[in-house]
Amino acid sequence: MTFEPRSTPNLGHPVNPTTNLNHFTPPYINVNQPTYPSEPHPLFSHGQSPSPLISLFLKMNAYLLANLCLLILFFETNNQVPWPLFLFLFSAFSFFTCVLNFWLVPGGFAWRNNSIKNYPKLKGPIGWPLLGTIPSMGSLAHRKLASVASSFDAIRLMAFSLGNTRVIISSHPETAKDILCGSAFSDRPIKQSAQLLMFERAIGFAPCGEYWRHLRRIASTHMFSPRRIANLEGVRQSIADDMILRVRGEMKRSGVVELRGVLQRGALSNVLESVFGSCLDVERDELEFMIKEGYELIGRYNWEDYFSFGFLDFYGVRRRCYKLAARVNCIVTEIIKERKKVECKGRNDFLSILLNLAEEDRLSDSDMVAVLWEMIFRGTDTVAILLEWVMARMILHPDIQAKAQQELDACLGDRRQVHDSDIPNLLYLQAIVKEVLRMHPPGPLLSWARLAIHDVHIDKFFVPAGTTAMVNMWAITHDKSIWKDPWTFRPERFMEEEVSVMGSDLRLAPFGSGRRVCPGKALGLATVHLWLARFLNQFTWSPSKEIDLSECLRLSLEMKRPLTCCVVGRSSIM
Ligand code: HEM
Repeated sequence: MTFEPRSTPNLGHPVNPTTNLNHFTPPYINVNQPTYPSEPHPLFSHGQSPSPLISLFLKMNAYLLANLCLLILFFETNNQVPWPLFLFLFSAFSFFTCVLNFWLVPGGFAWRNNSIKNYPKLKGPIGWPLLGTIPSMGSLAHRKLASVASSFDAIRLMAFSLGNTRVIISSHPETAKDILCGSAFSDRPIKQSAQLLMFERAIGFAPCGEYWRHLRRIASTHMFSPRRIANLEGVRQSIADDMILRVRGEMKRSGVVELRGVLQRGALSNVLESVFGSCLDVERDELEFMIKEGYELIGRYNWEDYFSFGFLDFYGVRRRCYKLAARVNCIVTEIIKERKKVECKGRNDFLSILLNLAEEDRLSDSDMVAVLWEMIFRGTDTVAILLEWVMARMILHPDIQAKAQQELDACLGDRRQVHDSDIPNLLYLQAIVKEVLRMHPPGPLLSWARLAIHDVHIDKFFVPAGTTAMVNMWAITHDKSIWKDPWTFRPERFMEEEVSVMGSDLRLAPFGSGRRVCPGKALGLATVHLWLARFLNQFTWSPSKEIDLSECLRLSLEMKRPLTCCVVGRSSIM
């Protein structure tokens, strides 16, 4: 396969002003929104809209206004101000007002050259000079962006700047659909860390072209097909047995269980079995460390993604990426080399399948390294993080836990092990997972953003090519005009109304939607459902101390503090 160059945004693409301006509003959406507690932006006086002074300043050309004042001042005091001082003041003032003129535009610095006649202007925070909104993008960026969008009355679409990068964000199902499902946003902006860690050659960051389509086709046929997921049930069961043993052991040893380590190990083993098969002889601790390091590097806001300081390496991100990529390359290349020496026919793991592809479909070794590494990287933490949130909710709500256990007992009868085939009958258990995906979506900003490859209209707004687009799924799933009592954990809501989480209903799309929707969603859900059912069937779970639901957003939304709990065996399960 040849690798296509990243497509260049077509900045001059003609736009038809009439497209996409009509909007169908489904009954569940109340267009008169703002519903989040609004957090005033530091640069605006009352959080609702720009202060009158700033609005006036924005409307008038600041540069002309300031110099006009200076000239008036000069003529008023003509005989007293010496020329050199006047010239100095004039240039300093001009420079200052020029900077203000660039900076004081809705959406901030990066939007300075994007006002197009006859189109409404996108609203958004001005942010800080040069930095834009980067200083607000911390570990709770999803909450901050939701409250800023609400305070600007820009829930449907808001503009902001990350350094010199133009960004739009949707906190509404309709505009989210336009972004995720339209053809305009089918690329992803590539971060330096993702590039250095080889993800540009894997599914997640490859530009949307023939190579990317080829990878998705291979993955959906050989890694994520329903038949393959079903074939791997044995692996999931034996890993569940192992996790249950570890939980019991930890409880016996120390009287309390820290679940995160158990889940991460289980999820890693699961994905390794699926990708490399069972006879894998690698140091799991090292792989675990590599995944953690990758998360740390990709989840970081790296100045170099927004400013070209080629010669600087703030925080050592580049150095650490080179080191990690070299280690990953070395380990995965070695595994591929070893596998080539043995007979791959008849093996069901993803690597053997890649090596057995027809000549014209085969990937180069370096592309294979990138694809396999991405599967391990994406497949481990997402599942572990989601299951940790689910268990935290089970412990926090013993009544809901008991109800799920009653459903299990009714479905399984006495002393039977739960299987994949039982999951379609466990509707309440499925509703619990949906409710956790709603309240704690592992990708509240859908993990990886999208990039406009040509000019496009979203809502009534014009969005130029090269703009980064985000969807604030967390804001949508916490919007009280869409969800009744959005802050209450109530799985029953999904028993009352069927809502798909697979990407067709943008009220709840934790796996994204459209052509770049998560390809691992069915595998992820199959794993989480089965392991949750096994955990609830085996033990009654209770808190060891107060459950802390604080969040920390890195690449995924994690529990800030690892969940600790106590367990008591329920019955002897065969
Ligand atoms: C609970 C589990 C998971 C969640 C919540 C999740 C969530 C997501 C989200 C939100 C996206 C971005 C979608 C978009 O832009 O529309 C994504 C993309 C992706 N996910 Fe997942 N994911 C999960 C499990 C997995 C698993 C198990 C794998 C693989 C083993 C995986 C592999 C990927 C890949 C390769 C992409 C990039 C797709 C592309 O750009 O074409 N995910 N995931």
